[in-house]
Amino acid sequence: MHPPIVEFPVSSWLASVEAALREQALETIESGGVLYFPRLGFELREEELRFLAPTWSDGKSKNIYLRGKERNLRGFAGSEDDALALAALIERYAAEARHLLNELLPAYKASLESSNTSFRPVEAAGRAQSWRHDDSRLHTDAFPSKPTHGRRILRVFCNLNPEGRPRQWRVGEPFPDMARRFLPRLPRYRPWLATAMHKLGITKRRRSEYDHIMLHLHDAQKADADYQKNAPQMAMPFPAGSTWICFSDQVLHAAMGGQYLLEQTLLLPVAALRDPGRSPLGVLEKMLGRALV
Ligand SMILES: [Fe+2]
Repeated sequence: MHPPIVEFPVSSWLASVEAALREQALETIESGGVLYFPRLGFELREEELRFLAPTWSDGKSKNIYLRGKERNLRGFAGSEDDALALAALIERYAAEARHLLNELLPAYKASLESSNTSFRPVEAAGRAQSWRHDDSRLHTDAFPSKPTHGRRILRVFCNLNPEGRPRQWRVGEPFPDMARRFLPRLPRYRPWLATAMHKLGITKRRRSEYDHIMLHLHDAQKADADYQKNAPQMAMPFPAGSTWICFSDQVLHAAMGGQYLLEQTLLLPVAALRDPGRSPLGVLEKMLGRALV
């Protein structure tokens, strides 16, 4: 089965993990699989249950989130006290997710950089969006304004739904198959345009050719209706009270439905991988025969 969705019998964020499970986790995630923890939920405190409502969203941003190192709450509509209480909940999730990753994937520990942590109280299905922002279409993640220069995007998701509704995902074909299909159709990288976009503040740093390709692969997958319908894929409902982890720049995924999700994003340098050749950067450089960063 691709992608491998491998179950792990870990039911506490603070669990210690045996060497054999660590090895399995590293192999699964680097090969483009999903680490799935069917019995690892995130406990809300009694006074936090009120945050399970879509009305806390400011309606402009898809998610409520703590941004990178700044840790200020964005996308939230409510009082200052409520903002502090919700930020504390999100921060607790960030700490627990990081703890689990350090235990499960100790090889990455020194190199992992925590980024945004989000709370997603709005129903994922049927949000009116442009095709490019429509995450119910299969895609690999790429950041338009924050070029990663090859760094991996690692994400920890936890379904908090109080009514027992699953987070409905579709997962697609292996990254190399997708890349082979779309690479010939992508527009050419223009270094002067990358420089101009950085100077104008459109991107936080200059887009490398790698970032250019990853963004256009994201768009090409989403824009192709035939690919969305007919490409190899499988449905995966992640139940309420479950957690899953993957490199979302590598795993083709689509969120078809579900409500109340916590998500932690982390960045990892390619050099920290056991096998950089399996990363999107390694795969694309091999296919194109040149350095992309
Ligand atoms: Fe995504």
